[in-house]
Amino acid sequence: MPIQPTGKIWHNGNLIPWEKATIHVMSHVVHYGSSVFEGIRCYAQPSGAAVFRLPEHMQRLLDSAKIYRMPLPYSLEQLSNAVVELIEANEIAPCYIRPIAFRGYGEIGVNPKNSPVEVYMANFPWGKYVAGDAADVCVSSWNRSAPNTTPSLAKAGGNYLNSQLIRMEADANGYAEGIALDVNGYISEGSGENLFLVRNGVLYTTPLANSVLSGITRDSVLTLARHFGIPVVEQALPRELLYIADEVFFTGTAAEVTPIRSVDRIQIADGNAGPITKQLADEFISIANGLRPDRFGWLTPVKVNAEQPVTA
Ligand SMILES: Cc1ncc(COP(=O)(O)O)c(C=O)c1O
Repeated sequence: MPIQPTGKIWHNGNLIPWEKATIHVMSHVVHYGSSVFEGIRCYAQPSGAAVFRLPEHMQRLLDSAKIYRMPLPYSLEQLSNAVVELIEANEIAPCYIRPIAFRGYGEIGVNPKNSPVEVYMANFPWGKYVAGDAADVCVSSWNRSAPNTTPSLAKAGGNYLNSQLIRMEADANGYAEGIALDVNGYISEGSGENLFLVRNGVLYTTPLANSVLSGITRDSVLTLARHFGIPVVEQALPRELLYIADEVFFTGTAAEVTPIRSVDRIQIADGNAGPITKQLADEFISIANGLRPDRFGWLTPVKVNAEQPVTA
């Protein structure tokens, strides 16, 4: 989907015109992938709009920067306020928000320490990420990065080289998305989503040790499942459990809760979203859109008149 330009982009504390938000080709990030970023959604509410789990996303940005020894000169509160300021300035909601911090123009060597850290944030409309109501996916021939290589708990630009290989291979073979295994052959995650499956009424997902990003939607779904009294197990999962599961779904800010219809052309149950997937997806999207009480304190209001939800 092409990016829809907006009026302003936030850069190091100031709002600048969209077309002025450019960087030099010799910036460190262009050569060495030295960026950390976030993907956040702002949802329409019955009145106005609200950002979903804004502080949690900004904490993950700070965590990613810390892992890469990248000093961010902004607090959690300043970063969160900047998102609200940006959305209100552009008057676009619902929207997707992309904060990014990276090593800019300074030195050519690998060591980033003398290349300045730049922080930008953009927001724009963005609809469905995985096409259709349910996804036909494959297990990728690419593994997720091994432990102690590129850290999976950092949402870093460089990690998405691995994601691109997974996604392009899936695409070339006619699948909506690929599921990567970790280096030990256990299920890890999609190229940009965490993975859940249901078997005999128990909800399973992979623990953080299986080379996954600590997804904020993953955490939201785990919270909702516990709230509904659904048994939850976080454990290493063998690939073949996917084929015999009663339900399989992805979670992610972009993907939200996306049911999976088949894996490697093997249909999951009857091919329709199962009852636990539907219950969790329905509660998730209803809370995000302000249609059910925000009982976990997930919404940060923004003063902007929202259009119809882009996810509808
Ligand atoms: C590799 C990867 N895993 C999982 C997720 C899901 O994370 P979240 O729910 O915080 O968007 C994402 C998206 O950010 C991702 O890129």
